[in-house]
Amino acid sequence: MGQEAFHQYYQDLYGDRWRELHAALISPVRCTVAVVNPFCRDHAWRSKVSGTASPEWDAILLPQIFSEVPFPAPSTFGLELYPYYLLDHASAIAALLLNLTPETLYADFCAAPGGKSLVALFKQQGPVAALLNEPSQDRCRRLKSNLSLYLPSNLMKDVTLTSYDGRRFGLHRPDSFDTILLDVPCSSERHVLLDQNELAHWKPKRSKLLGELQFSLLCSAFSALKKNGQILYSTCALAPQENEKQIERLLKKRPGQVEVISHPLLEKYFEKRPYGYLALPDQQGMGPLFCCLLKKN
Ligand SMILES: C[S@@+](CC[C@H](N)C(=O)[O-])C[C@H]1O[C@@H](n2cnc3c(N)ncnc32)[C@H](O)[C@@H]1O
Repeated sequence: MGQEAFHQYYQDLYGDRWRELHAALISPVRCTVAVVNPFCRDHAWRSKVSGTASPEWDAILLPQIFSEVPFPAPSTFGLELYPYYLLDHASAIAALLLNLTPETLYADFCAAPGGKSLVALFKQQGPVAALLNEPSQDRCRRLKSNLSLYLPSNLMKDVTLTSYDGRRFGLHRPDSFDTILLDVPCSSERHVLLDQNELAHWKPKRSKLLGELQFSLLCSAFSALKKNGQILYSTCALAPQENEKQIERLLKKRPGQVEVISHPLLEKYFEKRPYGYLALPDQQGMGPLFCCLLKKN
């Protein structure tokens, strides 16, 4: 029942594209990239993974992103810090949209396990005053452990970890942050498709219910953002209800106070949606990931 309803729902949304998109979503091939940790100064690990690394993304992203899979799961290789973080290529690109500086205050409201914030901190390569929030205790522990595996202790002193519901920040920290990453909980259809139990229990109202949480988080982030600050809203959902429709709702609720902005990386690697950009595995070879950069006027 759930499976049939799922296919019908996404067939209606994606039409003829659904067949190929579905095949790409259930395919084991994923575009995982290894983002090199600039804080790990010892490069001895490279000889241990040589042969798997290809500097394919050199020119376009960080100087050191390698993209061939299977790439070995990271470990310390006898070093103090883990030398690279593995994540989907679309997520790495999204993280590179965040411009963190030593003068600005950065927040990640839904932070665990921490991949995108780590890549943003790798890009900055120096101290950033950051608040990383994750309400789930288990996931917060994982976030904390990842931070200590990848960041030197002198950087950690500028990072604050909290465990609140992200919907509270708008009220409790209004006009506070220069940059907010809002990588919200979402339908994660790829995971649903790969889990027979989840698929059997899937219901069309899933996106609607998550959409309410996502919109509350987006409004909270908007209130917590300083003037001229930026929010990066992202999901790994396919449903427009969780993606561009949320942006549309915010634009309607705050007319003239918020604008969608573009970025060359999004133009180049993602497809344009009515609001924001989407990367899907059938055409972009990565994702699913929806991203929208918003600026507060
Ligand atoms: C897509 S994941 C974040 C992934 C993370 N940004 C990364 O790149 O590694 C969404 C996270 O939001 C958290 N979350 C769920 N409800 C939340 C809420 N009300 N406020 C803040 N975070 C929430 C989930 O526990 C989950 O860890």
